[in-house]
Parts: sequence; structure tokens; C-alpha cells
Amino acid sequence: MTKDTMTSVPVHVSMIMDGNGRWAKERGKERVYGHFEGVGSVRACVEASVEAGVKYLSLYAFSEENWNRPEAEVKTLMGLMVKAMADEMDDLDRNGVRFMVIGNRERLGEELNKVIDACMERTASNTTLTLIIFLSYSGKWDILQAAKKMVASVLSDPDSADDILDMDINGFDKYLATAGIPDPDLIVRTSGECRLSNYLLWQGAYSELLFVDTLWPDFRKEEFHKAIEYYSKRDRRYGKVK
Ligand code: FPP
Repeated sequence: MTKDTMTSVPVHVSMIMDGNGRWAKERGKERVYGHFEGVGSVRACVEASVEAGVKYLSLYAFSEENWNRPEAEVKTLMGLMVKAMADEMDDLDRNGVRFMVIGNRERLGEELNKVIDACMERTASNTTLTLIIFLSYSGKWDILQAAKKMVASVLSDPDSADDILDMDINGFDKYLATAGIPDPDLIVRTSGECRLSNYLLWQGAYSELLFVDTLWPDFRKEEFHKAIEYYSKRDRRYGKVK
């Protein structure tokens, strides 16, 4: 499907990348092998997003809960992120992709934070697609850090209390780690699991949800375009009657 034949293209598509471990196990390999293959699916989804005219692609790459995985797997995953970002930076920039990382960056190592900063600075003015990697992120963490920011704001400027008490939903959005990014129109989870696993809990309030059986390393361009097609047939009512 191309841009011309689509009835409705989501502005923001978000992916819960799941099934790397099972994909590797099915092939008698170590779990990390699935993560390596998964980088190919990231690349394919970035290319497909540009083809389809999607403006924001976000990926749940590592949750706050994922820190509880075996130390060796966490280490490999972090090393993989560093390598993937360093390897892909030129291509992303050349293709007009703005790169962002959102999450609890204090928990990421110095090497990873350095490459993230370099990639974000270099691609900051690109406008074709914004690629957001959620790293050390969870929805509850985000809501809690937003609440803490509001308390800190009142402590440093007691006059801001009135603004906070008058605040509406859009006002709260500004305190979230995703401030400035439109809420996801479509959240896709691979590997047959039907849950949000503490992902964009606030931002996903009205997202269309799509759960597919495909394991993440097999989720390539064709699957991505199928997901966009699925979205284009949804009737979004936001609680209203049409
Ligand atoms: C879930 O599969 C996948 C992850 C926790 C990691 C995904 C990360 C990548 C593919 C690397 C991305 C790199 C960049 C730069 C974005 P799982 O291990 O939970 O699989 P399982 O459910 O089969 O065990």
C-alpha cells in the first residue's frame, strides 16, 4: 500500500517489540540472537514508516521492568543499543529521521548516554520522521515523574500552585516525558501477547490496539503496511457518537 491509496495514515505508530527470545529459541539459538535479528525489523519499520507517510514511530525497546532480566542479557542488550545507534546514525540522518530516546536515562550507562546525545543532537532538525526509542521507560514511571515535577514546581514557586489546580488534561501532558509528541494513534504488539505491559498508559488512552502473532524479528515491511491498512479501517469515536 502506498501513501496515495490509503484512506487514513496514522500520525504516530508505536510498537511493543516482543518475541525475540522465542524466535531465537525456535531456532535452537541463544535469546540474544533474536535481539540482533530484531534490529533488522527496526530498520524495516523505519523505512516503511517513511514510505507510508507516518510522522512518528516509537518503539518500546527496554522497560523499567526489563532491568530485572539476567545481567548478561541486559549487558548484551545495552551493547546492542550502542552499536545499533552508532551504525544507523548516518543512514537515519541522510533519510531525514529525527532520533529521540525517552525514559529514565539516569539508569543507562555513560557510553550509551553519549551515543544517544550524539545521535539526538545530529538529527535534531530532521523532519521526515521522528523515531522515538523508549528505553528504561514505563508508563507508571512517566506519570510519577510528571507528578514529582509538579510538586517541585510548587516548591520552587508557590504561585504556580494555582496554575496546577486549574490545569486540564493538556496541561498535565506537558509534564510527561513525551511532552510535545502526539499520542500514539496505533499501538502494535507482536508475538501474540495481548497486554500493554506498563507502556504508554496515559498517552495510549485512545490508541487503536493491534496484537499480531508474528514474532518481532519476522515483523518486516509487509507486516507494517498491513498494520497501517488495519488502522485505516478503524472508526475512531473517542467516546462520542457519530
Ligand atoms: C522483547 O523480546 C524485546 C526486547 C526486550 C528488546 C528489543 C530490542 C531490540 C530489538 C533492539 C532495538 C535496538 C534499537 C537501537 C532500537 P523478548 O526478549 O521479551 O522475547 P520473548 O518474549 O520471546 O522472551
